[in-house]
Amino acid sequence: MQEALQKELALYEKRTPKSAEAHKKAQKRIPLGVASNYRAYDPYPIFVAEGHGSKIVDMDGNEYLDHNLCFGTLMAGHGHPAVVKAIQWALQNGTTFGMPHDMEAELAEEICARYPVEMVRFGSSGTEATMHACRIARAATGRDKILRFEGGYHGLHDTALVSVKPKEEDIGDINAPNSVPSGLGVIQAVLDNVTVATFNNLPSVENRFKQFPGQIAAIILEPIMMNVGICMPQPGFLEGLREICNKNGALLIFDEVKTGAKLCWGGASEYFGVKPDIITLAKSIGGGVPLAAFGAGRQVMDLIVQHKVFHGGTFNTNRFAMAAGLATFREVLTRENYAHVGKLSKKLAEGYRVILKKTGLKAYVAQAGVNGALMLYPQEILNYRDWMKIDVDLWRQFWFGMVNRGVLAMPYWWDEQWTVSVQHTEADIDKHLAVFEEVAPGLAKTQQERGAQIVGAAGH
Ligand SMILES: Cc1ncc(COP(=O)(O)O)c(C=O)c1O
Repeated sequence: MQEALQKELALYEKRTPKSAEAHKKAQKRIPLGVASNYRAYDPYPIFVAEGHGSKIVDMDGNEYLDHNLCFGTLMAGHGHPAVVKAIQWALQNGTTFGMPHDMEAELAEEICARYPVEMVRFGSSGTEATMHACRIARAATGRDKILRFEGGYHGLHDTALVSVKPKEEDIGDINAPNSVPSGLGVIQAVLDNVTVATFNNLPSVENRFKQFPGQIAAIILEPIMMNVGICMPQPGFLEGLREICNKNGALLIFDEVKTGAKLCWGGASEYFGVKPDIITLAKSIGGGVPLAAFGAGRQVMDLIVQHKVFHGGTFNTNRFAMAAGLATFREVLTRENYAHVGKLSKKLAEGYRVILKKTGLKAYVAQAGVNGALMLYPQEILNYRDWMKIDVDLWRQFWFGMVNRGVLAMPYWWDEQWTVSVQHTEADIDKHLAVFEEVAPGLAKTQQERGAQIVGAAGH
């Protein structure tokens, strides 16, 4: 490990003793001391005391400019007044009934107005949304197999937990990647029904349809792969997938859990001009409250009407979620706000690029909508296998260096990206860039010292 990273880690430990203590206590009763594996990292995660607007404060009283925003869930920022008001209303008027109420249809209208779907059902997590999307696609086509892309992330149900971050020794041929379970408990029958292709590689998709004629129900993907930093679809890729689906009678699922609310007003279909058959939404649509949805055209959703596909959930459409969702769609995810926040995100990306040039750090910045990422790789990555070559310890020097100076530049993990919220300001972006300007020369120095050596990313 480079000396500069060791120094940053020592400083981190000096600044955050209460987080260390809290983590130790939590580990006694909670595996890894955290509620989601993604929150565990060495030496220990920051434990949060509070969050307001664009900032959070940890248990030691250190303040951070927050571009983690709960893994991109808070385009609204912390405690957006419209969301707070909606939640207070729900608290005072009944939070959950297990019975219908009229906010459900209102929120469904909001969603159908901006995404290319005619009917929606709600849930609480992205995992639920992609699980139901895959099931209804299987039902609609009478086929069992789902095609997904190596390195993509779609949540935690079994179909989704295939080839998320496979190890190099397991991945196989780039044109026909192996279906690799992302942990024990994902059974062979699941692996047999999830076939894997390579992002930005249409021949690898076509091969799968040739290999399994009439057997693939759907292709599921994030239109921008955001589980490897930011990996943009190359021109023609999404259109090509649309064509392949049309030709083969398969459905196209856009997993818009991240992109749906953060790319632009109408999500990826508006941004790229390609229409999927099914979309999934979660994260930022709830303004910080657990809310998810999946939607499709009437023909597909009619399978629920006919009681052929089952969907339910005790907490579906609880009024925290519905009230917060309505407030978020109407007062946060507006065209004006997308213009404002998009401008801030662009300013951040351009600022990073100027600093990269100045310091000679070999990296690039990818940005789309309110998301962006510093990619510690000299040329644009096109798929998961490119991303595996990112220098992890250099990234850790970046992340801890920023954190020690009060900026959570992105969630911990080099496969993530920044989010800018509607509560971030120009001054926040200036601060972020000033801190990066301080950290970047050290990164360039480490990179030079390590020469052309690229240290592979094992994933998490
Ligand atoms: C693209 C994508 N799909 C699905 C999920 C799963 O969402 P959740 O964590 O709400 O279950 C995530 C979560 O990060 C995601 O990024």
